[in-house]
Amino acid sequence: MFEALRPQVSSIIDSNKTPDAKMQDICELLKANVPHYDWVGFYFKNGDKRELKLGSYAGAPTDHTIIPYGKGICGQVAESNQNFVVPDVQSQDNYIACSITVKAEIVVPLFVNGENIGQIDIDSNTPDPFTKADETFLEFVNFEVAKIL
Ligand code: SME
Repeated sequence: MFEALRPQVSSIIDSNKTPDAKMQDICELLKANVPHYDWVGFYFKNGDKRELKLGSYAGAPTDHTIIPYGKGICGQVAESNQNFVVPDVQSQDNYIACSITVKAEIVVPLFVNGENIGQIDIDSNTPDPFTKADETFLEFVNFEVAKIL
């Protein structure tokens, strides 16, 4: 599945749309094609502030359009620069719930010139669905998106 999606991600990157429209297409591609992806979005550093701002996403609207560094899974990744895989969100103390249906989450940082400037965030309604294959694929997605930022 991920191998088939890679060229589709690349062709979105190579299209002649705006960066925001490309990221929107990627969110929709991933949500539509990966059965355990129920919400897909990008968060980016908000100017000079130590907070994340929601960018493109596919899935239900969320109240959490601004997330301070250190808060929730996303805010922790903004500081750690590391992938964060959460098999069971209920076991996390520092977690920001977006929907009661969400069981698991993965956040992968996005680097431009070695700097952590944002992240891709996936919520899943399936318990413990993420493997190393998700991490590798999402690192690829972010590497591609970094080219247009
Ligand atoms: N659950 C995230 C907040 C963002 S929503 O999943 C869209 C977190 O704990 O950082």
